[in-house]
Amino acid sequence: MSAPQPTYLHDYQPPAHRVTHTELTFDLAPGATRVKARLHVERHPERDDAAESPLTLDGEQLSLKAIAIDGQPLDPDEYRVSDTQLIVHRVPKRFLLDTEVEIAPEANTALEGLYQSSGMYCTQCEAEGFRRITYYPDRPDVMATFSTTLIGDAQREPVLLSNGNPVERGELPGGRHFVTWEDPHPKPCYLFALVAGDLEKVEDSFTTVSGREVALQIWVEEENLDKTDHAMASLKRAMAWDEQTYGREYDLDLFMIVAVNDFNMGAMENKGLNIFNSAAVLTHPQTATDAAFQRVEGIVAHEYFHNWSGNRVTCRDWFQLSLKEGFTVFRDQCFSADTNSAPVKRIEDVAFFRTAQFAEDAGPTAHPIRPDHYIEITNFYTLTIYEKGAEVVRMLRNLVGWEAFRQGSDRYFERFDGQAVTIEDFVDCMAEASGLDLSQFMRWYSQAGTPEIDAHGEYDYAKSEYHLTLRQRTPATPGQPDKLPLHIPVRLGMVGTKSGDDLRMTLDGEALGRDAVIHLREEEQHFVFTDIAEAPVPSLLRGFSAPVKLRFPYSREDLAFLLTHDSDGFNRWDAGQRLALLALDDLIAAHRNGVEKVMDVRVVEAFRGLLHAETDDKAVLAEMLTLPSEAYIAEQQPLVDVDAIHAARTFVKQSLAVALRDDFLRVYHDNASDAAYAPEPEQIAARSLKNVALSYLMSIEDEEGIELAQRQFSAGHNMTDVRCALTLLTHSSRGDLADPALRLFSEKWAHDPLVMDQWFSIQVTRPQSDVLDRVTFLMDHPAFSLKNPNRVRALIGAFAGQNRVNFHRIDGAGYRLLADVVIELNRLNPEIAARIITPLTRWQRFDEQRQALMKAELERIRAEELSPNVFEVVEKALA
Ligand code: ARG
Ligand code: ZN
Repeated sequence: MSAPQPTYLHDYQPPAHRVTHTELTFDLAPGATRVKARLHVERHPERDDAAESPLTLDGEQLSLKAIAIDGQPLDPDEYRVSDTQLIVHRVPKRFLLDTEVEIAPEANTALEGLYQSSGMYCTQCEAEGFRRITYYPDRPDVMATFSTTLIGDAQREPVLLSNGNPVERGELPGGRHFVTWEDPHPKPCYLFALVAGDLEKVEDSFTTVSGREVALQIWVEEENLDKTDHAMASLKRAMAWDEQTYGREYDLDLFMIVAVNDFNMGAMENKGLNIFNSAAVLTHPQTATDAAFQRVEGIVAHEYFHNWSGNRVTCRDWFQLSLKEGFTVFRDQCFSADTNSAPVKRIEDVAFFRTAQFAEDAGPTAHPIRPDHYIEITNFYTLTIYEKGAEVVRMLRNLVGWEAFRQGSDRYFERFDGQAVTIEDFVDCMAEASGLDLSQFMRWYSQAGTPEIDAHGEYDYAKSEYHLTLRQRTPATPGQPDKLPLHIPVRLGMVGTKSGDDLRMTLDGEALGRDAVIHLREEEQHFVFTDIAEAPVPSLLRGFSAPVKLRFPYSREDLAFLLTHDSDGFNRWDAGQRLALLALDDLIAAHRNGVEKVMDVRVVEAFRGLLHAETDDKAVLAEMLTLPSEAYIAEQQPLVDVDAIHAARTFVKQSLAVALRDDFLRVYHDNASDAAYAPEPEQIAARSLKNVALSYLMSIEDEEGIELAQRQFSAGHNMTDVRCALTLLTHSSRGDLADPALRLFSEKWAHDPLVMDQWFSIQVTRPQSDVLDRVTFLMDHPAFSLKNPNRVRALIGAFAGQNRVNFHRIDGAGYRLLADVVIELNRLNPEIAARIITPLTRWQRFDEQRQALMKAELERIRAEELSPNVFEVVEKALA
C-alpha cells in the first residue's frame, strides 16, 4: 500500500461541475442498503476548462450497481471506478446522473457515513463521510437542495427522518413504508443526515421573532424520554439568544435533535436534523453532573448556532474549518457566559485551553488555525481549530468592539448567505465594519505555536511613570521554523499598592482610563505610562485577552496582593494559580532532590484569606480554591516529572487541608442543602464549593470528612454529589472505602451506559499503583466495548489522559496498553484511534527512559497496516 498523500490549500480550485439538486432514495437493510442518487449536474461557470473536464465524483467502500446519464445507461468504457473515485470521461453541459450503489451499514464500525447504532440507522457525514453513502462531489463548495426518500421496515424503523420537511409518506408491500423529505436550503453534502429506527419523541415549540412557529423535537430511545428536559430548555434559550444577540432567526418549520449511542464526536449540525452523541444531550439529576448539564447546554447551543455560522454560510474547503468552528465556539461560549456565571465560564475555558491547546501547540501535531495541508481532515477537528479559533474571534470582538463586530457579523451573513467562503471573507467584514487594518492580525490564522510574551516593568517614583516592556516570540513548530510578530491585544490595569485600586493610566498623552488594551505588534515594545499616582502592581492580560503565555517576574507578595485586589476576576484567579505554581515549583525541586518538603505559608495565608473573605460569587471562590491540575503544572515544567508533580501537588493539598481543616468543614456545612436539584448557577456554585471543601478534607482522610463523603454518597441526592463522593472514596488509599461504594453504584446503574462510563472513569483515574490491572480487568467488563467511542474515552481515554502517574509508569506498561488499544481501534474506528493516541505523541516532554519506551510503542504501531488517520499522527510524532 502506498503512503497516503496530503491535500494542499494552495491547490484549491472550484469544482468543474456542480450539483444543483440531489434526489436520494435509501432502501434500508443492515447488510445491503441500496442508495439511488439522481444528481442534477451542470458545468461550473468559474472554470474555463469545465467543458473538457471529466465528471469526477468521490466514493469509498461503495459497490456500484447502475449508472446512467439522462436516462441512458453508460457503457463500461465511458467511466472508471477506483477505490476513491468515479470518473465519467465525457459529459454534456447539463445533465441528470443516476447511480445506484450498495453499502453495508452494519459492517460500518468507523461510524462515518451510514451506520447502525443500537439497532437504528444514522449518519455522520462531516467532513468526508458522504462519499461512503453515494458517489458525489464530496466538498463543501458544492451546494444543492435535497429531496430524500427513506424506505424501511414499518416495525423496526417506524421513524424515518432526514433534513428539511416531510412531504410524503406511505405504505409499501412486504411490511415496508417510506417517507420523503425535502430540504429547500442548498447545502453541502456534509450536512446531509438520515435517522431510521424505533424512537420516541419529546415535542415543544418556539415562536420566532417574526412570529413563525417552529416545532422542536428530541428523538430518543424510549427509556430516555425522561432525560430531555434540559436539552429542550437549552435549545429554546439558544434560539432566543441568537435572535437577540446576532439577529439570527431559524429558517425551517421543524428542528430535530436525535440522541445516538455510538458517535465519534459530541454532535453534528446537519440541517434541521442535529445528531447528538447521547452523552451530549441526555441529562437527569440522578444520572448527570452539573458539568454534564452545562456541557449539554453548550453543545445544544453550539449545534443550533451552526445553522447560520456553518450552514447558511459555510466553508469553501476544509482548510477553512475554523471559519465555522472558531466562530461557533465563540458564540456558544458567550451564550453559556450569559446564562451562567460569566467569570467562571471564562476561568474554566481558559484553564482547559492553557492545558490542552497549549500542549497541542507545543507538540508534534501543532498546526495553524488554518492549516495549509492535511492527510486526513478528521485529524483536524482539534483544540487549535475550535478553541484557539474561538480565542482569535474573541480577540477580533475585543479589537473592534461589540458594535462593529455585530455589524461585521450582519454583513457576513447577508453578503455570503447560501455561499461557501473563506476566513478572509469573515475578517474582511470585520475590517470593513470597524475601519481597522487587520492585515497583521491575519497571521494568527497562519502561524502555529503559542506566542510567549516576556514582560518587565518598573515604577519611576521621581517621575510617577511606569515603564513596561513587552517582548514577543513564537517558538518554532513543525514545518514553521521562523515566526513573524503577531498583533496581540494586551488588556491591563495598574493596581495601586497603597490604595488597592485600579489607577488611571495615560499613555503617550492619551488618557486610557483604569482598564485598557494596548497593542503589541513589534517583537519588542516599550510603553511609558505617565501620571501613575502610586507604585502599582501591573495586572496583565486581563480576561486572558490573547491566547499567549505571559511571563512577568511577580513576587509572591505581588501575587498575594493581586489575589485580593485585582478588579478583574479572571486575573484574581490567575494570581492564585501563579502563586500556587511558584510554591509547587519549590516542592517539585525538593522532591527531586530528596529534600524535606516545606509548605509556603504565604499560600496557606492566601487560602485562609479566601475562605474568610465575604464573597458573592461562590463559583469563582470554588475555582480559586482549586489547585492547578497536574497537567497544567506539567505544562510549566521544562521536563515533566510526573511523580514529583503528583507528590508536590498532593503535599500542597494536604498541607492546606491540615492548616485550614475547620474552615473547610465550615464551608462544607454552609453549602450543603436539601433543596430539590436544579441546574441553576446558584445551586451549582454552592455544590462546587462544598465539593471542593470535601476534597480537601478527604485528601487527609479526615474522619469527619470520610463520614461526610459516605453520607453524601448514600444520600444519593444528585449525580454531582454522588459522583464527587464516589471519586473521593475511590481515590482514597483505603480500599475499605472504595470497594463497597463502587459495588453499590454499579449494581444500581448497570442498565445505564452513560452512568457506567462515569464508573469506569472514576476507577481508572485512581492514583494507586495497582490501577493498570484494573484497567485491563474493566476492559473485559460486559458494559465495556471497544466499538463504542464513549466507552473508549471513559476507560482508556481517562486512564491515559488523566492518570498521569500510572500511565507514565516507568516499566512502560501504560504505554503498551494504549498502543495495543490503538492497534485494535485502527482497524475498527480510525478516527478514535488517531485521537486516543495523543498522550503517546507527547514523548518529547519526558525523561530519556520514558521517551524511549513511548517511541518504541509508536514504532510498534507504525509497523501495522495503518489507516490514513493513524498514519498521519504517528508519522508526525516520530518525525
Ligand atoms: N461540526 C461538528 C461540530 O462541531 C463536528 C463534526 C466532526 N466530525 C468528525 N468526523 N470529526 O459540532
Ligand atoms: Zn461545531
